[in-house]
Amino acid sequence: MNVINKIIKDFNNNCTLYIGEKVTIAEHMIQAAMLAERDNSPSSVICASLLHDYGHFIIDDPDKLVKKSLDGKHEDIGYKFLKQYFPKKVTEPIKLHVQAKRFLCREKKYYSELSKASKVSLKLQGGIMNDSEAKKFSYNEFFKEALQVRKYDDDGKIPDIKLKNIEDFTSIISENLIN
Ligand SMILES: [Fe+2]
Repeated sequence: MNVINKIIKDFNNNCTLYIGEKVTIAEHMIQAAMLAERDNSPSSVICASLLHDYGHFIIDDPDKLVKKSLDGKHEDIGYKFLKQYFPKKVTEPIKLHVQAKRFLCREKKYYSELSKASKVSLKLQGGIMNDSEAKKFSYNEFFKEALQVRKYDDDGKIPDIKLKNIEDFTSIISENLIN
């Protein structure tokens, strides 16, 4: 099976809720990608938003073969799989989307608007970045894109809105693939 078909199948098979939210992981990622589209983001940012939590699908995969390498975090697991198929401009913001949250939480307003579940997971993710971590993070080549994906991640948790299908993103996925 090629990777586009695998991604489509994984989205369509997913029915687990996004931890602490009222949307499934697939719905959440589609919503994030739709927000990126609404902002006329580059195709790579739309693709990164669409796949940013793909690691959760791999963790949930009933195929035990993949379970061997599951000691990492969802952003790393997704990154490791996706980087075989997608360029850095897609996979780096995915790898960094949790760090981006730790960075953005330095702003009180951002922190206060996070969902309850996201506030809980922040602690497990290392808490708010300190000054030197934040400075280092801001020098990352994909800093801006990581913050963008993060914002769509945070906002893409609204239940019962009209969503596109994963199939509607076939061209976005395919145009971002490494040939
Ligand atoms: Fe997410």
